[in-house]
Amino acid sequence: MDETVYLYKGEVFYFKDSPLKFDESYSYYPDGALVVYRGKIIEAGAYENIKERYPEALVTDYSGKLLMPGLIDSHIHYPQSEMIGMYGKQLLDWLNEYTYPTEEAFGDSEYAGRVARFFVNELFRNGTTTCMAYATVHKESVNALFSVASEYNMQMLTGKVLMNRNAPQSLMDTEESGEADSRELIEAWHKKGRNLYVITPRFSITSTHGQLISAARLHEEYPDTYIQTHLSENRNEIDSALELSPECSDYLEVYERAGLVTERSVFGHCIHLSDSECRRMAEAGAIIAHCPTSNLFLGSGLFDMQQANRINIQTTLATDVGAGTSFSLFRTMGESYKVQQLNGYPMSVFESLYKCTRGTAKALKLDDKIGSFDQGRDADFIVVDSTATPSQQMRKDYLERKGKWNLENKLFGIQTLGDDRNIVATYVAGNPVYQSDTCNHQKTG
Ligand code: GUN
Ligand code: ZN
Repeated sequence: MDETVYLYKGEVFYFKDSPLKFDESYSYYPDGALVVYRGKIIEAGAYENIKERYPEALVTDYSGKLLMPGLIDSHIHYPQSEMIGMYGKQLLDWLNEYTYPTEEAFGDSEYAGRVARFFVNELFRNGTTTCMAYATVHKESVNALFSVASEYNMQMLTGKVLMNRNAPQSLMDTEESGEADSRELIEAWHKKGRNLYVITPRFSITSTHGQLISAARLHEEYPDTYIQTHLSENRNEIDSALELSPECSDYLEVYERAGLVTERSVFGHCIHLSDSECRRMAEAGAIIAHCPTSNLFLGSGLFDMQQANRINIQTTLATDVGAGTSFSLFRTMGESYKVQQLNGYPMSVFESLYKCTRGTAKALKLDDKIGSFDQGRDADFIVVDSTATPSQQMRKDYLERKGKWNLENKLFGIQTLGDDRNIVATYVAGNPVYQSDTCNHQKTG
């Protein structure tokens, strides 16, 4: 065990609570420090107040850079890493034409391992330290992703996709085999290290009522697992879902009847929900993963953040790669802002960043482990250069001249103009897992 105390100097920023509820929702120390010991946060605060208490610390100087909790992506498909950005078509055609053929290869462990390794490193390069990911129908795909995540001691949530209808034969399981394979994977991986299992019926179009019920049964058996699926992304999808379940009056009811709407269920997209569906989700404590780059790319529609906020549903941001067009949650925040602009809601950067950090951790009931710099949290953090590009630098110079280079303008610039170029370094459980080429911090003894 490494007994070194590490002290990181920089501009420390993290949320204490939701900016929707409190004006003083965050802590910000322009000349701050973060102290890490045995992979955990010991404290975060003003450097002047902290330094004398840790004379033995190994200091890394990131002065002028932001130190923030690692970003959390609540909905992403790792097997779609290599088919990101495929031209044309809306959801159902896109699945048939591009997605399913790509996912067929993941029964091969070696192949799955290669893509899983690329995926995890791409997350780190983009400042994402935790994700809730879809694998494929194959057990091998889940083993591959948990294995790579374990090498880095990364907080990983994933699970085997369940699909027993309306998909290519090679990608289908059965009610029985899907349940048995999921159970085997839960036993092998759930709560082993930082791995958490997510029961993953892809969506109602590809799972019979019987399979959805078996998924809910499994969750009852293992109540600290999660559930993830897709809901109300695309108009044709909704029509098909209701044709397949004519007894249901809306799409959410398909999942409700199976017992899948729980406080540990994450529903991707949720673009076309009625107020009634939103209220029922809020009552159940269910979670929305809003995926703006994907929704714009597939022409799915404009998610209504105000509706979700009004009805008090826990909402998180997510990339949804490969329908999502970027691994960067900064880009995702930027596109979310634009989507909400079209809805007449100029969402604050504090709201969008909260929904990629502490807000997501809280929704996933992981806020005692990740999402902030509260004492005892796992030391998953990122170092962010707010002026990584000439345009960002010029904008900063301008705002400084105007006396307006404040925290909000800085974060808004990262959201609007930022991406992987702004990530200087990424740390997982106290270990550096990514350092940009331009990273030239100084270590002193
Ligand atoms: N709905 C069911 N499967 C998928 C998927 O892989 N991507 C998206 N965007 N929506 C889905
Ligand atoms: Zn998805």
